[in-house]
Amino acid sequence: MHTEWLIAPLAQWRADAILFYAFEGAAQHLPGVQRWLREQPSWATQLNPLKDFTGKLQETAVYYGSPGQLIPRVLCVGLGPAESLDLEKLRTATADLLRKCRELHISRPAIPLMAFDGLSLEADSTFREAIIGAISGLYRYEVLKTREESQTALPEVLLILNESAPTEGSARALEDASATAAGIALARDLVTAPSNRATPAFLVQTARELAERYRFEIQVIDLEGARKLGMGLFAAVAQGSQEPAYLIVLEHRPAGTENDQPLLFAGKGITFDTGGISIKPSNKMEAMKHDMAGAGAVLGAFKIIGETGLNKRIVGILPCTENMPDGKAYKPGDVLRSMAGLTVEVISTDAEGRLILGDALAFALRYQPLAIVDIATLTGACIVALGDRVGAVMGNNENLTRRIQEIGMRVGDRLWPLPLWDFYFEDIKSDVADFKNVGGRKGGAIIGGIFLKQFVPDALPWAHIDIAGPAWTEKDLSASPKGATGFGVRLLAELATDWS
Ligand code: BES
Ligand code: MN
Ligand code: ZN
Repeated sequence: MHTEWLIAPLAQWRADAILFYAFEGAAQHLPGVQRWLREQPSWATQLNPLKDFTGKLQETAVYYGSPGQLIPRVLCVGLGPAESLDLEKLRTATADLLRKCRELHISRPAIPLMAFDGLSLEADSTFREAIIGAISGLYRYEVLKTREESQTALPEVLLILNESAPTEGSARALEDASATAAGIALARDLVTAPSNRATPAFLVQTARELAERYRFEIQVIDLEGARKLGMGLFAAVAQGSQEPAYLIVLEHRPAGTENDQPLLFAGKGITFDTGGISIKPSNKMEAMKHDMAGAGAVLGAFKIIGETGLNKRIVGILPCTENMPDGKAYKPGDVLRSMAGLTVEVISTDAEGRLILGDALAFALRYQPLAIVDIATLTGACIVALGDRVGAVMGNNENLTRRIQEIGMRVGDRLWPLPLWDFYFEDIKSDVADFKNVGGRKGGAIIGGIFLKQFVPDALPWAHIDIAGPAWTEKDLSASPKGATGFGVRLLAELATDWS
């Protein structure tokens, strides 16, 4: 489904359905509905009062007009009480509206800009968020479906109705919404794709396509190259896999920013995590195809950055490999030498994410970044701590972590801070190496963070985002259908935009 402006006098609007919002318990319609009804006398009696429809959040209602009308249906969705409206609820409600359209086989639904009047949120961002919800809620991964009947047709186009040409702000809002939804969809596609499709080589190909399309710089380092750079941690994880491993460096460097210090994103790209020799139980192991969601989030953010044409230097580093048990695989007890020169004792080969990211962080320092943000499905412990709808943010700079959390709340990627006090390091002290890759069971998400912290100078602002929970949803969440969520895509893109 794409979006399209339809600019015409109100009486000439034509669509398969017009979409509106309603507040719960409101005495009257929203101003946009009122205006539309004034010019549609035949509808006025029907929509007034909104009979069985109470306007509860996500409640939808369909009204049918008489034959021959230019707009034969009205679809309404509840926003809940006016006082508690926020952008998240708006995205959710709009997603439900469009899903209702899909269910009813409505091919050309239309939403008038005036539907957003009276929502008491900033106009352009209200419009933008609604459209992001509309598109994202219809997401489905159908690449591997071959049977016709399994594919319900989507609406063909979502028309945006207005009487006059859109203001620069609303035109921009629609463009941003499409770009954002496309970035989220890319990440969802990559994370959903099984590991025999989304291999490290596939991620390389995806990054190359982005680089080609948006004029990013790209550098791909293979296992041999990684070894030469001294990446003993990344190489150890990769050595048990038959799939070639790659470290991808993607760089947005618009003219004039060549000498600027970049903002740097690092994303965990484990395309399948068996646990290695410390093998995971087979039950639900298939879920570990999503262990590259950090890399997916960075690629999705780069798509948004490419689409919107940000004028800042941004670098993405994606270590990509499988984690497999094998005759050649690395083993518990092995001591590895990292690119940073630090030695690491492997206690569990299943704590592989921090290993590949440790080398990625050391490599990142070459770019003299202003700040580093890494994002990873790092620990099951993070899900135990915060549940599966919230990620954890931690780091060495409170300003940075606070800012990331605030942006996350704004875009719907919920994060909660965890501390990285120095004493946590005691848990990963090793008898034979500088430190080990696992502590006990206590504070598992924090231990992952403390491990990564060893690879970043204290003076360089760095944040680590653990998305083990929210990268995937078992529940259908309206704007985020069951499966890969694209969590972190908007967060990173918005952080890049917001960055000064
Ligand atoms: N990829 C997993 C973490 C994970 C678990 C992500 C569940 C998504 C859902 C990670 O590589 C891992 O296995 N972590 C271990 C760390 C432990 C060995 C310290 C874990 O969480 O059990
Ligand atoms: Mn693991
Ligand atoms: Zn993992």
